[in-house]
Amino acid sequence: MTSKQEVILSGIRPTGRLHYGNYFGAMKSFIDLQEKGHQCFYFIADYHALTTVTERVDILQQTIDMLRTYVACGLDPVRSVIYRQSDLPCTAELALLLGMITNIGHLERGTTYKDKMSKLAESSQGGEGNPLSYGLLGYPVLMAADILIVRANQVPVGDDQRQHVEMAIDIAQKFNHRFGETLSIPRAVERNALRLPGLDGAAKMGKSDNNTLDLLDDPKTVLKKIKGVQTTTDPEPLDTESNDPDMVIPKMPYSVGALYRLLSLLAPEDVYLDFVGKYRRGEKFYGTLKTTLAEYVSKFNEPIIEGFNAPNNTPDSIKDFLHENAKKVTPVGLETVESCRQAMGIGRSLYRA
Ligand code: TRP
Repeated sequence: MTSKQEVILSGIRPTGRLHYGNYFGAMKSFIDLQEKGHQCFYFIADYHALTTVTERVDILQQTIDMLRTYVACGLDPVRSVIYRQSDLPCTAELALLLGMITNIGHLERGTTYKDKMSKLAESSQGGEGNPLSYGLLGYPVLMAADILIVRANQVPVGDDQRQHVEMAIDIAQKFNHRFGETLSIPRAVERNALRLPGLDGAAKMGKSDNNTLDLLDDPKTVLKKIKGVQTTTDPEPLDTESNDPDMVIPKMPYSVGALYRLLSLLAPEDVYLDFVGKYRRGEKFYGTLKTTLAEYVSKFNEPIIEGFNAPNNTPDSIKDFLHENAKKVTPVGLETVESCRQAMGIGRSLYRA
């Protein structure tokens, strides 16, 4: 091999059912990276899921459902190491150590934290001081621990997580500067991702917005959801000659754009081009567009639904590979934490190693 094998890490929040936005925004690039033969670590950020809960949620169940879908889509838990964050609990120890060198002002400027803060201010629930949790403020520190613990050198993330990866880089550099070269410095890499609009015409498809098309939706549900997409607006002239989805779709109303985007991803090119032509000519075609698209979506979902229900893809088989993969990452994780303890002066654990 000429180039050093890259160590790639990315985290996924356990959300249960997965939708097309998740697929084209993240899963597809995870599968592509695995196919390129890189060493990939993908973990389920279940500790992170706890930063926003206000009541008990069955995070384990959501993790298992999500992983069954990932496996059904082609992510391979033998080639890629897929584990749960909480099965590598030394991540929490590393986060504690990194927290000692992380500046609070820096965390308060984090976008996720700032957004939550301003939402609170809007609803004027101020009252008893700042009600946000220590865990939420520390979200980026935990994320830095996730990345640094496996000595990842590439972290593929979407735009919304970029700032967090940059914070991880800062923390690692500060650690090395203060305590000597201990941590590998990662870099953020752009994820080859698309942001899909929601079926309701919102800019983004998102679980909490209830506007998703799901990978496990059966043909009836698919048709119902697609038929419900609002297409009453008359086509506006497309003031571009190009048929490239990236040029054409932004000129359409969001909800219509959502249909065209899905068509461009799932149907053969001539089908997509035919419907772009119809749009240009202002023909009446939304009915056929919807039934045609629904067929392609159902065709796409069919093997995923089958894979989800396959006899070798049960909750128990998911638990088995999680167990095996946790065993695989633990030595790397412990070695990183131990070397940080040593570098900071408390010395290695006396019972663990
Ligand atoms: N915060 C990420 C998200 O919401 C998930 C995540 C947690 C992550 N730790 C990470 C992503 C480490 C990349 C690297 O999408």
